[in-house]
Amino acid sequence: MTGVCVAGATGWTGRAIAQSILDSDGLVLRSAVSRSAAGRDLGEAWGGPAVGVVVSTDVGVALDDVDVLVDYTSAAAAKGHALTAIAAGVHVVIGTSGLSASDFDEIDAAARTAGVGVVAAGNFSLTAAMAQAAALLVAPFLPQREIIDYASASKPDAPSGTARELAERLGEVSRHPLTISVAEIGGYPEARGATIGATQVHSVRLPSFVVSTEVVFAQADERLVIRHDAGGTPAPYVAGTLLAVRAAPGRVGLVRGLDTLLLQG
Ligand SMILES: NC(=O)c1ccc[n+]([C@@H]2O[C@H](COP(=O)([O-])OP(=O)(O)OC[C@H]3O[C@@H](n4cnc5c(N)ncnc54)[C@H](OP(=O)(O)O)[C@@H]3O)[C@@H](O)[C@H]2O)c1
Repeated sequence: MTGVCVAGATGWTGRAIAQSILDSDGLVLRSAVSRSAAGRDLGEAWGGPAVGVVVSTDVGVALDDVDVLVDYTSAAAAKGHALTAIAAGVHVVIGTSGLSASDFDEIDAAARTAGVGVVAAGNFSLTAAMAQAAALLVAPFLPQREIIDYASASKPDAPSGTARELAERLGEVSRHPLTISVAEIGGYPEARGATIGATQVHSVRLPSFVVSTEVVFAQADERLVIRHDAGGTPAPYVAGTLLAVRAAPGRVGLVRGLDTLLLQG
């Protein structure tokens, strides 16, 4: 049995992950983390019957008999949670968005030193992973690209974890200078977006969007668009997260991207 702690278990995504762990074979939900439900039974915090899992406010005290920490909290908390778990010899799955490439470098170094595995993905849905894998396949042949990231008006971070991970990973595959650099742009240069991994990223925040990510590749007289659209429930992220929970104990260091995990086998 693999013991799991879910940080963010009262949230939109974490609740679905925690419920699927309660329902799964081979995984056991040992603990949960949330500030507002601290000290309560997780099931009762969800408004239902008790499930026998106590919610803690602090990851450090929730890791007893835990093999894997899953984090779906906030960018401000996730790195600290991951480093606490790694220091305790606990493997980590990071679904939370908003961590930088240097945060991931630090997490990777700590995980290698501790001999534990970390799987992080800006998007744990299978179709998003396939969209990312396709984009990485295209990038060496069509290096000119831009990313458009669509999300709800209330999303507190930009770009989305999906768009950020895609931009950073495209930057590892190919880098192509802009025809006109952002510094040379007249008018409002910021309208050219953020430069991440040598890719311009444009974040649109409007009601009715959940998370959609579009990468546009182009060369003279032709374009290729790869787009992923998520619906309004956390269901797409559950299977990929559980796959990562099962895979993390067999790894040492950071695996970034569900596509990497799937393609490595
Ligand atoms: N990788 C993916 O596939 C994927 C998919 C969906 C979402 N996400 C990302 O996952 C994160 C969570 O998204 P969500 O929509 O589920 O958010 P949410 O509904 O706001 O849930 C956040 C959860 O984290 C807890 N939390 C927040 N800060 C905390 C802290 N400092 N210490 C302990 N617990 C804390 C919250 O409980 P309290 O407020 O009570 O502490 C709550 O349980 C975001 O970064 C989002 O972008 C990633």
